[in-house]
Amino acid sequence: MKHGFMVTVLLMAVFGLTSCNKLDLGHFPWDHGSAPGKGELNLPPLDPQLVQQGKQVFRYWTFGDETFWTDKLQMNKVIESAVSPKTALSVGLKVDAAALPASVITAIEKGQVNLDDPQTTLLLIQANAVLGIKGEVSKNADGTLSLDRVGVTCALCHSTVDNSVAPGIGNRLDCWPNRDLNPGLIISLSPALSQSTKATYASWGPGMYDPRFNFDGKSNPVVIPPAYGLYGLPKAIFTGDGDVEHEPAGPVAYWNRYVSVTQMHGHGYFSDPRLPWTVDYRQNDDLVTSVLPALQAYEYSKSAPAAPANSYDIAAANRGRVVFMQKANCVSCHNGPLFTDVIYGGKLHPQSASVAIDKDYVKRSATKMWRVTPLRGIWQHPPYFHDGSAKTLADVVDRYNQVQNLRLTAKEKSDLTEYLKSL
Ligand code: HEC
Ligand code: HEC
Repeated sequence: MKHGFMVTVLLMAVFGLTSCNKLDLGHFPWDHGSAPGKGELNLPPLDPQLVQQGKQVFRYWTFGDETFWTDKLQMNKVIESAVSPKTALSVGLKVDAAALPASVITAIEKGQVNLDDPQTTLLLIQANAVLGIKGEVSKNADGTLSLDRVGVTCALCHSTVDNSVAPGIGNRLDCWPNRDLNPGLIISLSPALSQSTKATYASWGPGMYDPRFNFDGKSNPVVIPPAYGLYGLPKAIFTGDGDVEHEPAGPVAYWNRYVSVTQMHGHGYFSDPRLPWTVDYRQNDDLVTSVLPALQAYEYSKSAPAAPANSYDIAAANRGRVVFMQKANCVSCHNGPLFTDVIYGGKLHPQSASVAIDKDYVKRSATKMWRVTPLRGIWQHPPYFHDGSAKTLADVVDRYNQVQNLRLTAKEKSDLTEYLKSL
């Protein structure tokens, strides 16, 4: 009797709990474990000292790439003679207000700084205030400044500012993609390049870069992605090339080595048995390998920024989540805590899985597959897809609706868009 009562209570508790879960979570199998935005990553804490070191590397370390940007491309001469602060801002370069004395900030705000004079740019570079640009500036006999050496850092493409002083001038936002930056146009200013190479670089446009052009000669640039929100992903970049199997320091470190050596031309080496070439720019030194763990730790310390308050309609977003999980079935790929199935055993998808306009980029990668892009913080960085072919999140929804024939109503589409804005 006593026993039977206990069993009944136990059964009631179990069933009670189950039906309660179902009610709360809306009967979706995904809500148990890999629901969008749900689930545990259980990642080890990052070493704060390593993170701090990585911040310095991210912002200021050139890996010795002055041998390329100065000795080969002669960008120091280009900047010195022709790049005024106005020009620099117009190609998307950003200025760190915290690196400037208060008197200079006030003068900028009052319009008293000559933003048409390349000499002012040199002053900014001397103060370490131009994001991603590291230079050595010296004074000539006549009092003018010279840019003797110049190199670039990771902050060039992967950081921006909050515009608190003026457009392009403010506090640093490390790991946010600089979608204003026109790296191709900047490189095209080098006198060391042929006319046709210059024309290709100049054609890419703001926020775009092709990290494979210098190997296969194809011009097929991709958007500069965020370097935040990546901790827990076993594979890095759109095509998932970066993994621990090909870089013991980690998936993001794989790609950091790739870019610092093969694109920035830092002193280091890169090789991957899946790719047909090896690059060795070591000059009796390796300025890359030893900083990779710190650099990666800094990137991992940056989570995706939360959507600003009042930037989306909460009720619509809640309805949109249901569309995401049911009718549109986005959850079949964008699931789990980071909205990507790559965390489950490093899953990648074939070429046809992308609804971007360009389909060819993937063929140039090591994997020839797509990683499902994590969606946290997407409100922050339009345009979308690797080729930037969707200008807004509403365009993303329209694209999926059309390509996957989802038959969403106008209301379902706008609800789904609000949900995407909330991630
Ligand atoms: C000239 C611009 C440029 C510079 C400089 C640059 N990157 Fe990138 N970065 C890109 C582009 C473009 C991609 C996308 C490549 C792809 O997915 O195929 C990318 C991808 C990444 C990713 C992958 C993000 C993800 O979703 O997995 C990380 C992390 C990253 N970069 C960090 C860095 C670091 C650290 C440095 C310095 C060593 C650096 N980048 C230098 C343009 C740049
Ligand atoms: C078959 C797997 C799959 C499904 C289903 C899927 N996606 Fe994706 N999603 C991807 C892949 C792969 C990418 C990267 C494509 C690219 O960049 O070319 C991506 C990219 C995105 C991006 C761009 C992110 C960025 O940072 O640029 C958004 C937004 C997105 N998906 C939302 C959705 C929504 C909304 C749905 C449902 C309507 C959906 N996805 C369904 C695989 C999928």
